[in-house]
Amino acid sequence: MPRSAARLASAAAALAVASAVFAERPNAVAQWWAPGDGRTLPATTSFTNEHGRTGILNTGGAIDTHGQPFFEPIGTNGRACVTCHQPADAMSLSVDSVRARWDASGGKDPLFASIDGANCPHLPQAERASHSLLLDRGLLRVFLPWPPRARDGSVVAPEFTLEVVRDPTGCNTHPVYGLKSATPTVSVYRRPRPVANLKYVTAAEFGVGPFNLKDSQPAPRDPATGKLVNQNLMADAREPTLTTQAISAALTHLEMRKAPTANVLERIVGFESQIYAAQSFDTGAGDLAEPGGPQALGPAALAAGRTSVLGNNTTAYVFPIGDVWRTVPRNGDAVHDAQAAARESIARGHDVFFFRTFWIKDAMHINTVGLGNPIKRTCSTCHGMHMTGMDTANGWMDIGTTNLPWATEKPLSPWAKEAPEMPLFKVTCDKAPAPHPFLGRVIYTQDPGRALITGRCNDVGTIVLQQFRGLAARAPYFSNGSARTLRELVDFYDRRFNIQYSDAEKQDLVNFLSTL
Ligand code: HEC
Ligand code: HEC
Repeated sequence: MPRSAARLASAAAALAVASAVFAERPNAVAQWWAPGDGRTLPATTSFTNEHGRTGILNTGGAIDTHGQPFFEPIGTNGRACVTCHQPADAMSLSVDSVRARWDASGGKDPLFASIDGANCPHLPQAERASHSLLLDRGLLRVFLPWPPRARDGSVVAPEFTLEVVRDPTGCNTHPVYGLKSATPTVSVYRRPRPVANLKYVTAAEFGVGPFNLKDSQPAPRDPATGKLVNQNLMADAREPTLTTQAISAALTHLEMRKAPTANVLERIVGFESQIYAAQSFDTGAGDLAEPGGPQALGPAALAAGRTSVLGNNTTAYVFPIGDVWRTVPRNGDAVHDAQAAARESIARGHDVFFFRTFWIKDAMHINTVGLGNPIKRTCSTCHGMHMTGMDTANGWMDIGTTNLPWATEKPLSPWAKEAPEMPLFKVTCDKAPAPHPFLGRVIYTQDPGRALITGRCNDVGTIVLQQFRGLAARAPYFSNGSARTLRELVDFYDRRFNIQYSDAEKQDLVNFLSTL
């Protein structure tokens, strides 16, 4: 080998060692994908995070993102879709990335645009505190008309009144942006949802009919094709299709002056439909997608998987991982044996998710659909969709992430030591409909969720289940970012349903979730 080539090879080896060492430490600044970067997104690639690496697979092959509208700043504020749907964050946005962006740009990155990247547009934008919900919990402001509007623009008469009890962002009581302004608007704060694996999120073959399974309401249709849609997009299912979603996203997040053209929309949706994301490497367990390994793991498994399959049974499974990691032989080598132990923990965590029963109680749109209240079931009762753990159709439910009395997590922000940082609303349901079966006529909530669209009392605080993939890359969790880590998410369930998991069960469950 010529000397220069040998030097190159050893430099490459040194680099490989360096990246192995830093594999556990995500390099949030270097992994950021800025609008208009014009880089090529390879057909398969991966990005580091604290649990290992997240794999991104583009079934359309490598793409030159130059001129691909998902990656270009097509609006007026310098943002692109990729600003909040980052490949390194499993096509969502982690709070680590948000903070790294703030530090690297001195708060000037278009991510922090006042429209929704601030607690409210009227606040002094140069101050960190004005963006605390984004910086501390990864939340964007979602602003919706009140009372709700149907898709044809007509007013939906709500079954309840909405009062602002606590307004830490100042937005809901603001004379221009608030509920009592000339254009009455309600602001809630939500996490971006992953733009990947969307064939599952939009598949509408199972449990989709002219009336919703959960609430017997007429089901909406795709305005372009007239076909029924499954209503699993956005925390409140307000968007029927990826196309309508992209129009709204362009007009709000990107502040485009008018809707994108049909061609631009087609290219955005085309990109969204070919991108898959899942954890591909785990610091403890090693390669998650190796040949002969657990079938459900890694992005290629998602690309190949079947949609609209109910997985909470042992013929399909929600996350089929098989038996390969159930008992992994030890050979006395410390590295090998540690990996074997990590793999067995993941397999046990799967079983906690899938088989460990607990009493599911007072959860709207689950304990009200003929299954009984309480019911002794598992995580997979709600998270039933094969490969993603979403609900198969119209998946909004209330587990208490935003409604009191369960949503009482401590404030996270150092700027909100005394006053909790989330808005609080008082919902008072009219006398005419039956009261909410579990919460009565007066409900306190941080985010009325689906009820902001339907105006129905029974929908207050119901949130559409997200997909479970790429979790390791996109903390914090739940639509309101209330679980900072997967352990906090598991602790929430333990409290909410009085599960009484052992510490070992919790650890196994966390290890399992972080490989998805
Ligand atoms: C400023 C941040 C931001 C930008 C920019 C942004 N989004 Fe999002 N995106 C969000 C948030 C927040 C949600 C969840 C909103 C909710 O649940 O109400 C979301 C949700 C989505 C979803 C729903 C996924 C699901 O499973 O429900 C899709 C699809 C999506 N965005 C596509 C886009 C597209 C296309 C663009 C560019 C036109 C875009 N986003 C730009 C923040 C952003
Ligand atoms: C009664 C139905 C129900 C049960 C049972 C249930 N979940 Fe959920 N899950 C939900 C709902 C609803 C959401 C969305 C809540 C939100 O975002 O506020 C959710 C969201 C999630 C998410 C996605 C978080 C994110 O931000 O992407 C994970 C992970 C999760 N649940 C794990 C579990 C685990 C583990 C169990 C078992 C201990 C479980 N769930 C049991 C209804 C349920």
